[in-house]
Amino acid sequence: MQRYIPALKSFKSEYTVVQGGNSEQNRKACGNSICGSRKAVQKGRFMDLTSTVIVPLLFGSLGIFSLFRLLQWMRMRAYLRGAVVVVTGATSGLGKECAKAFHAAGSRLVLCGRDGEKLKDLAQELSAMTDHRKNIHKPHTVVFDLSDTKTILNAAEEILKHLGHVDILINNAGISYRGTIVDTSLDVDKKVMETNYFGPIALTKALLPSMIKRRQGHIVAISSIQGKISIPFRSAYAASKHATQAFFDCLRAEVEQYDIDVTVISPGYIQTNLSLNAVTADGSRYGVMDKNTAEGQTAAEVAQVVLYAVGQKKKEVLVAGLKPSLAVYLRNLFPRLFFNLMATRAKKERKTKDS
Ligand SMILES: NC(=O)c1ccc[n+]([C@@H]2O[C@H](COP(=O)([O-])OP(=O)(O)OC[C@H]3O[C@@H](n4cnc5c(N)ncnc54)[C@H](OP(=O)(O)O)[C@@H]3O)[C@@H](O)[C@H]2O)c1
Repeated sequence: MQRYIPALKSFKSEYTVVQGGNSEQNRKACGNSICGSRKAVQKGRFMDLTSTVIVPLLFGSLGIFSLFRLLQWMRMRAYLRGAVVVVTGATSGLGKECAKAFHAAGSRLVLCGRDGEKLKDLAQELSAMTDHRKNIHKPHTVVFDLSDTKTILNAAEEILKHLGHVDILINNAGISYRGTIVDTSLDVDKKVMETNYFGPIALTKALLPSMIKRRQGHIVAISSIQGKISIPFRSAYAASKHATQAFFDCLRAEVEQYDIDVTVISPGYIQTNLSLNAVTADGSRYGVMDKNTAEGQTAAEVAQVVLYAVGQKKKEVLVAGLKPSLAVYLRNLFPRLFFNLMATRAKKERKTKDS
């Protein structure tokens, strides 16, 4: 109210001055001065609103938001520090970067892969990086092939024997595929399904009873945007990721009563060796770095998304740009349009291949 007083005073004095005359000039002057005074009052009101409501509200919200983020960060740090984290496919790409991110967060790592030497090198690299205040745990390595169920069961036994329990399992390892359905042998479909679907679910099933017993645990599936939409010439891969999405969605519902969390991460393109290592219709290595893969997000960026998604116990995260994210919505809301677009894409890709 104090702020209105000068404005009101000026309004009064100007009004009084023009009262003295009765000419046209005075009437104009009178109109101008009333209008100017109204503006001054409005300005005063606005300033008053800004200083008494908007600014405190803005700072208050910022403060609450910062406090909320800080608490979230502290809870995440506490959750990850010292947690036994199993990472499959730790020898390369996203798995390797996840290993670095979780190690930096203070987790006790179990690095899994097919190449023992690469795993040992990574374990040494991480140990050398160790800041003793942050992480005193030397990573443990376990060698097994996800397409061989027997080695998976032995690996799960070894992990539980060596570390006692698993807090977080990150099912990351996987292979991609390129080829036409008509030319692809069923063995190739099975190989992709074994690695991307049966392997991860076998490891999950092997570790699940101990999590249920402790009523504690977190299972993460690195799926793909292709677990939500199917792109031509990726049939086996898209099928394996759709199956992954479905399995872990069912698991999430079933294990909630035991306080076990399930997070499904669906990235778009990531700059890794995935397309180079993809299998083709006859089972040979594709060996090409796809343009989309080369232009994707870095593995380190996506690993940070994985770290935060796990730390904040997110149920599902889509890590993709605008175009792929729109494609997911298009598939669900306008399926006919999506199917037409995919058919056009298939024709275009076939033409490029044939030319
Ligand atoms: N890159 C992308 O654009 C992209 C996009 C969406 C989702 N993803 C997913 O991200 C995950 C990681 O892939 P990436 O991009 O990091 O590719 P990557 O660099 O090729 O790494 C794949 C990892 O999986 C391991 N692996 C493959 N077959 C295996 C088997 N039979 N048994 C055990 N380990 C096996 C590989 O180990 P070896 O060293 O022994 O081969 C390697 O460590 C995959 O699930 C993939 O589907 C990737």
